[in-house]
Amino acid sequence: MDCNGFAAYGRQESAGVTIWLTGLSGAGKTTLAERLTPELQRRGHRVESLDGDVVRTHLSKGLGFTREDRDENIRRIAWVAALGTRHGATMLVSAISPYNEGRREARDQIGEFVEVYVKCSLDQLIERDPKGLYAKALAGEIENFTGVSDPYEEPVSPEIVVETDMESVEESAAKIISRLECLGYLAPATECVAAA
Ligand code: ADX
Repeated sequence: MDCNGFAAYGRQESAGVTIWLTGLSGAGKTTLAERLTPELQRRGHRVESLDGDVVRTHLSKGLGFTREDRDENIRRIAWVAALGTRHGATMLVSAISPYNEGRREARDQIGEFVEVYVKCSLDQLIERDPKGLYAKALAGEIENFTGVSDPYEEPVSPEIVVETDMESVEESAAKIISRLECLGYLAPATECVAAA
């Protein structure tokens, strides 16, 4: 991906943005958000995090994993992300958000929106499986499990793709930071060079 001419850090310092991390459970969305937070703060951003697992303990408490409930969950997250973005925050969203339509609605509502596809092969996720959820889903103990018994629609044209089964956390985080610089959401720490 290159900079497509967006090299200048032209946005107002007060302008907010939502960095929307989408991908399968266990792909590394939360880990990346946690890695990005201090770096963005160090560069003067007011960062707020909306993590699927956490949101589901309050804002979306009681919602399940049917398409309807997931859509509702994403709508709530997008609503809060839009508020924060409008007030100048850098909103880091980590949610599977499996449907293109929901992500497109979020993008339209929020405006300043950077979609990051946190990509990882299912084989790798099944091998990692830190929460043991894939094993349970494959055994039929969890219904509607994304990637196993429920769909995940790959992003059509995300601003950023990171491949966590091939990159270290540092590499993926650096890729996101550099792309944010190129897009003008982050003051460049180094000169913005178009990548091959
Ligand atoms: S989303 O589809 O509505 O965006 P969200 O990111 O909030 O999902 O929540 C995903 C988390 O819920 C997973 O990381 C996992 O820990 C847990 N989870 C429990 N059941 C399921 C399921 N059926 N499918 C996916 N994730 C599930």
